[in-house]
Amino acid sequence: MALLRLIYFSVLFGLCFAADPFANFDLELSYITVSPLGVPQQVIAVNGKFPGPTLNVTTNYNVVVNVKNKLDENLLITWSGVQMRRVSWQDGVLGTNCPIPPKWNWTYQFQVKDQIGSFFYFPSLNFQRAAGGFGPFIITNRNIIPLPFNTPDGDIVIMIGDWYTQNHTALRTALDNGKDLGMPDGVLINGKGPYRYNTTLVPDGIDYETINVEPGKTYRIRVHNVGVSTCLNFRIQSHNLLLAETEGHYTMQQNYTSLDIYVGQSYSFLVTMDQNASSDYYMVASPRFVNQSLWQRVTGVGILHYSNSKGKASGPLPDPPNDAYDTSYAINQAMSIRQNGSASGARPNPQGSFHYGSINVTDTFVLRSMPPVVIDGKLRATFNGISFVNPDTPVRLADKFNVKGAYKLDFPSRPLTGPPRMDRSLINGTYKGFIEIILENNDTVVQSFHMDGYSFFVVGMAYGEWTENSKGTYDKWDAISRCTTQVVPGGWTAVLVSLDNVGAWNLRAENLDRWYLGQETYLRIINPDEDNTTEFAAPDNVLYCGALGHLQKPQKKISSASTVIGQSKLYITMLIMFFAAISILF
Ligand SMILES: *[C@@H]1O[C@H](CO)[C@@H](O)[C@H](O)[C@H]1NC(C)=O
Ligand SMILES: *[C@@H]1O[C@H](CO)[C@@H](O)[C@H](O)[C@H]1NC(C)=O
Ligand SMILES: *[C@@H]1O[C@H](CO)[C@@H](O)[C@H](O)[C@H]1NC(C)=O
Ligand SMILES: *[C@@H]1O[C@H](CO)[C@@H](O)[C@H](O)[C@H]1NC(C)=O
Ligand SMILES: *[C@@H]1O[C@H](CO)[C@@H](O)[C@H](O)[C@H]1NC(C)=O
Ligand SMILES: *[C@@H]1O[C@H](CO)[C@@H](O)[C@H](O)[C@H]1NC(C)=O
Ligand SMILES: *[C@@H]1O[C@H](CO)[C@@H](O)[C@H](O)[C@H]1NC(C)=O
Ligand SMILES: *[C@@H]1O[C@H](CO)[C@@H](O)[C@H](O)[C@H]1NC(C)=O
Ligand SMILES: *[C@@H]1O[C@H](CO)[C@@H](O)[C@H](O)[C@H]1NC(C)=O
Ligand SMILES: *[C@@H]1O[C@H](CO)[C@@H](O)[C@H](O)[C@H]1NC(C)=O
Ligand SMILES: *[C@@H]1O[C@H](CO)[C@@H](O)[C@H](O)[C@H]1NC(C)=O
Ligand SMILES: *[C@@H]1O[C@H](CO)[C@@H](O)[C@H](O)[C@H]1NC(C)=O
Repeated sequence: MALLRLIYFSVLFGLCFAADPFANFDLELSYITVSPLGVPQQVIAVNGKFPGPTLNVTTNYNVVVNVKNKLDENLLITWSGVQMRRVSWQDGVLGTNCPIPPKWNWTYQFQVKDQIGSFFYFPSLNFQRAAGGFGPFIITNRNIIPLPFNTPDGDIVIMIGDWYTQNHTALRTALDNGKDLGMPDGVLINGKGPYRYNTTLVPDGIDYETINVEPGKTYRIRVHNVGVSTCLNFRIQSHNLLLAETEGHYTMQQNYTSLDIYVGQSYSFLVTMDQNASSDYYMVASPRFVNQSLWQRVTGVGILHYSNSKGKASGPLPDPPNDAYDTSYAINQAMSIRQNGSASGARPNPQGSFHYGSINVTDTFVLRSMPPVVIDGKLRATFNGISFVNPDTPVRLADKFNVKGAYKLDFPSRPLTGPPRMDRSLINGTYKGFIEIILENNDTVVQSFHMDGYSFFVVGMAYGEWTENSKGTYDKWDAISRCTTQVVPGGWTAVLVSLDNVGAWNLRAENLDRWYLGQETYLRIINPDEDNTTEFAAPDNVLYCGALGHLQKPQKKISSASTVIGQSKLYITMLIMFFAAISILF
């Protein structure tokens, strides 16, 4: 609880050098036992909480996060959607960072330069996200930048995701043995199981999530799908969801009665409590692209409770979209999400001034995902026929120390026709290039793909095969810029991205089992006139592994007893400093 060592303003620096403020956090990852679906199981908690605490910072803050690994295996935390500008050293995936061994800690430091939005952090290794370890990461706008809507009366975070009662090591073992994970056991909302809306489907005694609200008020509700592999339809009974932002960009505000949220995606909605509170209301996250009657148990149900509510929620859940015979529904909904080009984001100048539609594309990559196949006796998933093998030495570290053969820069720009293989192939990205990536899904399941370090414009999406003619259908004006996009089975999604952020950046399937089985690669983007002003140097505390393991100094193991009292005193001191700083600065 008090372990969340919050924000301190560096008063002197703030005044003398106009430096950006620092926000310090401690995150301690450990196992706890909880029973979200009525079965006791081991989950990964952050500072004792599941899901983890919210890290809430403001545009341009320097964020310092000391991560303590109290698990029994390696750990890395990654910051989904937060653009680590010029510091892929801090991205927390195996291609950029050596893992933090058990009982060690490692301090991340990065600046959230020119960013706003709703994101989340999660453990990137070993299928750990399926066991928790995730939490919200919010970048709020600076006071001087107006929001494109009235300031909401409250800020609420909802993390939804499919869930297995097996622990992550058991799930990993299943995949290693070539098995499919099968249907999840449920959907959790903020780490909790379903409200008992149906006594046959939901056992007694399950703890469910309740969101308390005041009538007439408007809340900003940030929703993240942190699950393993299930796209979830999110809806709140009798309430409109006014979509306002997704993954760092403001959208054209539009009402939805429900929205499909694919694995790894984040949205913020403005929801007005405009109903008569004759009872509580259901909040639902139900599976999509599956047989809903078979998957009935896999439904997350929480409660929206008005302070003047007259009774419990009862009766059937609000209906999911009825589109069994309308394959275009999901795609039309996705393409209806448009960017508000006149809204200010992190800066006062309109983002719309970036006319991506008139920039010439410098390279086109077609990335095709295929159903898992057996390669060298192991079940593997591929992109363009390549199943990625993580380098033993992180990419930029290998570059810095001239480690030869750590990786190859030969990732094919079109699907390979030969037999699939395992390899360490990376995309050779051209710095300042403007590339088009066609994500093709030849798999049987709906997928979402994510790129670290960047936002991309989602310009096109359809069923069927992508051809050169498909370019004619692209949205060249107000496509949404985001970092995670869905690709329907048997379809494609086209994204455009400006390669202006140097480093090694992960491009991956968000679907955890496909990712675990190798469906990822990296874009290595280097300024050819490399000097140390383009990419920041490796941090002083960089961890070494692989070919450079001999450079790593041993670390004093973190003790198991935490100094909670010391921390809370520190916390109060910092709060005092914080308010002192506020009163000086504003
Ligand atoms: C581990 O945490 C301590 C403080 O608790 C800090 O001084 C040290 O720098 C951290 N180690 C790394 C490698 O970040
Ligand atoms: C984040 O911080 C801002 C103020 O800086 C506050 O308005 C907002 O409610 C906070 N959000 C959450 C979810 O804590
Ligand atoms: C994880 O699940 C496996 C299989 O059910 C079990 O053998 C193992 O003890 C579990 N691990 C923990 C730490 O609970
Ligand atoms: C509860 O679910 C079962 C199984 O789907 C269904 O047969 C039953 O009608 C539901 N009960 C209510 C009260 O809706
Ligand atoms: C969205 O729905 C609310 C009612 O819930 C309504 O007041 C508002 O005008 C609608 N906004 C838009 C942009 O349609
Ligand atoms: C509240 O709204 C519901 C649904 O619109 C309606 O059926 C009910 O009669 C209303 N109750 C009151 C007390 O106004
Ligand atoms: C869904 O599953 C049910 C029960 O097994 C089956 O009767 C139904 O035909 C299935 N629906 C579709 C669209 O496959
Ligand atoms: C777009 O942003 C502007 C603020 O610059 C806001 O006034 C307007 O309502 C927004 N439009 C939509 C459709 O969301
Ligand atoms: C884009 O390419 C076309 C021809 O291929 C060329 O005429 C045009 O000047 C280029 N535009 C820019 C902005 O470079
Ligand atoms: C990578 O691309 C750059 C141009 O951006 C080129 O100069 C370099 O030779 C390429 N490297 C490899 C190994 O293909
Ligand atoms: C996969 O590709 C093959 C060959 O192009 C095509 O026949 C098949 O329909 C595709 N399947 C899916 C699910 O995309
Ligand atoms: C950057 O390069 C310059 C000139 O090569 C050097 O003097 C300086 O120390 C370097 N700075 C860092 C942070 O590496």
